[in-house]
Amino acid sequence: MAEKKFPKDFVWGSATASYQIEGSPLADGTGPSIWHRFSHTPGTTHEGETGDVACDHYNRYKEDIKLMKSLGLKGYRFSISWSRIFPNGKGKINEKGVDFYNRVIDELLKENITPFVTIYHWDLPAALQDIGGWANRDIANWFGDYADYLFQRFGDRVKHWITLNEPWVMAFIGHMYGEHAPGMRDIYAAFTVAHNELRAHSKAVEAFRSQGINGKIGITLSNGSHDPASDSPQDVMAAKMAHEFSNYPLFLNPIFKGKYPEHIENFAKEFLPKGYEKDMDDIKKAIDFVGINYYSGDLVKADPSSPMGIKVIGRGLPKTEMGWEIYPEGFYKILKGVQDEYNPKEVYVTENGAAFDDKVENDAVHDQKRIDYLREHISQAHRAIEDGVKLKGYFVWSLMDNFEWAQGYSKRFGITYVDYKTQKRILKDSAKWYANVISKNAVE
Ligand code: BGC
Repeated sequence: MAEKKFPKDFVWGSATASYQIEGSPLADGTGPSIWHRFSHTPGTTHEGETGDVACDHYNRYKEDIKLMKSLGLKGYRFSISWSRIFPNGKGKINEKGVDFYNRVIDELLKENITPFVTIYHWDLPAALQDIGGWANRDIANWFGDYADYLFQRFGDRVKHWITLNEPWVMAFIGHMYGEHAPGMRDIYAAFTVAHNELRAHSKAVEAFRSQGINGKIGITLSNGSHDPASDSPQDVMAAKMAHEFSNYPLFLNPIFKGKYPEHIENFAKEFLPKGYEKDMDDIKKAIDFVGINYYSGDLVKADPSSPMGIKVIGRGLPKTEMGWEIYPEGFYKILKGVQDEYNPKEVYVTENGAAFDDKVENDAVHDQKRIDYLREHISQAHRAIEDGVKLKGYFVWSLMDNFEWAQGYSKRFGITYVDYKTQKRILKDSAKWYANVISKNAVE
């Protein structure tokens, strides 16, 4: 098989998020987050599991960074827990929280691994939820101040910043479907949250520019490829709606063009906060890169009985443990689409990966399905680069098995296996395979 070479300086990395791996959610003065509260509410997560211990990364970060080094990772994407820094979300600072991330950052740099910091990956300080959380218009300032403080403390060493992880998921899975923290089911709140996320993102970018940080700032968006189930104009329109609503356009259209995608705006006008139009000029602000997360793809049919007129169906392809169909070509379509539609200066794949039912046999995990998944997706990323996408890096989700939100520990996404009883880490075959991709800077 032919080898597909990647550009020189391509950043091969892995990604994680604070609440999913750190554990010790209240240690050293940390305030509770909405995920701490939510997971401790009966009936919200798989078998009542919480992030209380998770991968104990809070105590084992050094060992985990050694593991990254052993794989040859060039970059590591992780998130900062807001309530470790500001236990109440604003006001009083917790130096011990700052210390923890200083240690992580310094250790990464010592090992020559570039830190990519996500400012927010869903763990809002619970104290801010108590005063309205993301649905409160003031959150743009709270978030802006928090981000500003991170730039002050870490901006000398961290050069790559991601404002928000998957704002769509936070807005809609957290506030409309109620499956994630804070567990609300209110479409008005969901669209208000999405709008406030954009305003908050914009405040962070403003702070970054005004501090004159020598680095790059972007945002990470969730995506699934949505193709029409037939060429009927109704199905084509339904697929377009699904794309504009749940993929990058909902956020990138405002950021790059100062307006919501047309069809979504028509649908959402009544749900968006009053006077939202006045914020749009401010939201439009140059960013340095776009972060793309991609896992799966589906087909979309017109369905007049659903509120947005869309119904998602499968192609009948093999699925991962999440029940998501494996559709690598959709990855290409999303990458090519974002470059063609918005022409960002740079693109990073900030998450791509799969959960499978991994088994340990004699201290090894033979996860051939994950290797196949990664190989096919990385090949599509290569194809995207050949076709002009300014893709600069790829971060596999995830470095290690972790707390998969409402699914608890039942789904394993890691290239490293975590035995939660002993906290032992075992490199899966996919980790070894990935290390080889990195060392060759190529995929077969
Ligand atoms: C999130 C991760 C999550 C992964 C797999 C993304 O939506 O950013 O936190 O674990 O997908 O579900």
